[in-house]
Amino acid sequence: MSIKYAETEPATGTSKYVGQGVDRRDGPAKTTGQARFAAEFPYPDLAYAALVHATIARGRITALDTAAARAVRGVIDVLTHENAPAMKPAPKMSFLDLSSIASGTSVNYLATDEVHWNGQPIAVVVAETPETARYAASLVRPSYQELPATVDFAAEEPNAVPERGIPIMESGADKGDARAALAAAPVSVDLRFSTPPYNHNAIEPHATTAVWDGDHLTLHEGAQNIPWLRKHLAQRFGVPETSVRILSPYVGGAFGGKSRAWAGTLLAALAARATGRAVRLALTRAGVYHTVGGRTPSTQRVALGADATGRLTALIHTSVSRTARIGGMPEPITAASHHLYAAPNIHLAQNVVQLDLLPNTFMRAPGESIGTFAVESAMDELAWQLGMDPIELRMRNEPERGPVGGQRFTHRMLKEAYALGAERFGWSERDPRPGVMRDGRWLVGMGVATAFHPSMRMPAQVTVRLGADGTLVVRSGMHEMGMGTATVQAQIAADEMGVPLESVRVEYGDSDLPPGPGAIGSVQTASAAAGVIDACAKLKKSVLALARRAPGSPLRGRKLEDLVARDGGLHHAGGGQTYAEILTAAGRDHLEAESKAGMLGFVARTVLERRRKVRAATGAQFCEVRVDPDTMEVRVSRWLGVFDVGTVINAKTATSQLRGGIVMGIGMALSEQTLIDGRDGRIVNPSLSEYHVPVHADVPHIDVHYLNEPDPTTPLGLLGIGEVGITGVAAAVANAVRHATGKRVLDLPITLDKLL
Ligand code: MOS
Repeated sequence: MSIKYAETEPATGTSKYVGQGVDRRDGPAKTTGQARFAAEFPYPDLAYAALVHATIARGRITALDTAAARAVRGVIDVLTHENAPAMKPAPKMSFLDLSSIASGTSVNYLATDEVHWNGQPIAVVVAETPETARYAASLVRPSYQELPATVDFAAEEPNAVPERGIPIMESGADKGDARAALAAAPVSVDLRFSTPPYNHNAIEPHATTAVWDGDHLTLHEGAQNIPWLRKHLAQRFGVPETSVRILSPYVGGAFGGKSRAWAGTLLAALAARATGRAVRLALTRAGVYHTVGGRTPSTQRVALGADATGRLTALIHTSVSRTARIGGMPEPITAASHHLYAAPNIHLAQNVVQLDLLPNTFMRAPGESIGTFAVESAMDELAWQLGMDPIELRMRNEPERGPVGGQRFTHRMLKEAYALGAERFGWSERDPRPGVMRDGRWLVGMGVATAFHPSMRMPAQVTVRLGADGTLVVRSGMHEMGMGTATVQAQIAADEMGVPLESVRVEYGDSDLPPGPGAIGSVQTASAAAGVIDACAKLKKSVLALARRAPGSPLRGRKLEDLVARDGGLHHAGGGQTYAEILTAAGRDHLEAESKAGMLGFVARTVLERRRKVRAATGAQFCEVRVDPDTMEVRVSRWLGVFDVGTVINAKTATSQLRGGIVMGIGMALSEQTLIDGRDGRIVNPSLSEYHVPVHADVPHIDVHYLNEPDPTTPLGLLGIGEVGITGVAAAVANAVRHATGKRVLDLPITLDKLL
């Protein structure tokens, strides 16, 4: 396979590193095995914990026989609700304090005899070795009084009620009379889709190493949001936030699954407190399924009405998702449908049922990934009904302004994305008739779909420190989950200060650093960049102030606006000085500047801004499939995505991240699904051997192109790339399958039984 990196132009005239495909800074440490993940920190008195999981969906523990477990040599303690020190209850979810989102569930583990889901941890074994802990955990014998449980989404889905709405996410909307317009439309489709539950499967299963020193907790943890996790732990253990240190230098993938405090994290800290030992709790793969939320299943209705020319007259998108009685949040499934098509009549509504299951959580573009499956499949089906090219149909309905709210788009280049994609992919070679393109015996199909993910920002605190030797240290508690966090921020800082990339060090992944943005909602890079740019501007100001005071400095009497930061210093046409010279002349060994940003008002700003403008990363996904005409096995044979993500800082890391999203989308389309027993809520396939993520053989070469046009409303013109890659993917596959076979599959995953 040949790896091609899309060419990108530098973002600004003076930038040197932004726009370059720079190698990832964490690459050597990871490829040589030197990078230490949460379960790899040694402590001399380290003990190992293993969880005991409930095997009923709902009820009470009437007895918990731990004698056999305790009798195993090397067992230090078995913690249950009868003997564990109590944690404080989980804070209630409040959108005034977004850190409350860190509660994975509302359960107070080991402080109650109540069982709320099949898999809930009900005991923790601490032992001298991980093997001993796991073996002893298997010997704990609970007895239960079972209570009636509601666990079957398909059975409960008709009882869904409207969700109450989440301020930072879009949910329902109404414009005009969509029902009447649909009924009157000369051409229409009205389809019901379903998507199954999905589970997180990061390469690094969740793991925690917890160490107490008096009332001070040190926690090694792969985290997506260090400040919120720290606050949550401080609340649960009744200590000040300053007494909790979270170290998270490397995160082996997260995708939403490491953005909250789940049972393993809390129980590792609890076990360490109870035993006085350093405790490591590394979840098994099944342990992740049992204790870390995944994605809700959904049912969705999309109905589209159009006139004979393909102009939409009605767009209806409604959804049902599930949360749990003990937490979770409605997935914003119809969010993208607010912004995709210029229909005069729109009805969007989200409904929810609460079940006795582990709560759902954020996962790989929550909302947009499964929402675009439905709406983009329906658009394709409408194109069939109209006998129209599916790209042409989309272009005819491309909105000038926000279709629901009339907001201005800060960036909207879907026409350009489709045009470039069609040309590069060879869309004109597509025979519009279904089931006629062949490659030997294989049926060939081509499909497209639109990618869409909102571009948001969160507060980030950043300090930059310039040494007299000309080196620059950027400090912010950002998160590195494999996307190249330090690399791209070093590129930005090097350009802002005009210093060589090698002289910039980026510190991240530590709660002792200034609080960074969460690596959630595709916000981290743009949010941190804003802080880096601001801090660098302040730093240059201080440097200039120093220089202006120095007799004989060529910068005397100059303003910052007249100077260019380059070659390690500040320069104008007639001369300049390096930072090292300026600091040395002033007798300073360093200068530091800080960018501060508060969380206060963030929700209000987000909501208010959304009323005025729509800012989003978008893209055009092109998929080619080959379908075996006898077995109906589907193989994705080609992929091309054209993305409008604003400025591309680093085409190498960006392309890798977008490819990752597309691979996850292929999994969603063809193989992934969590199977839950409708009788007792048990996850039937909690392992990678039975929950099928795509392997290399399932993934073709993925071509990624960028429009690389800076957004005019964000620092450096960034729009965020973390999640847009997966959106539209499942629909593009389904649409290609429709083209290859003539069959429309409405229920994911598209397994061969649904095509035979
Ligand atoms: Mo994302 S699903 O906010 O990691």
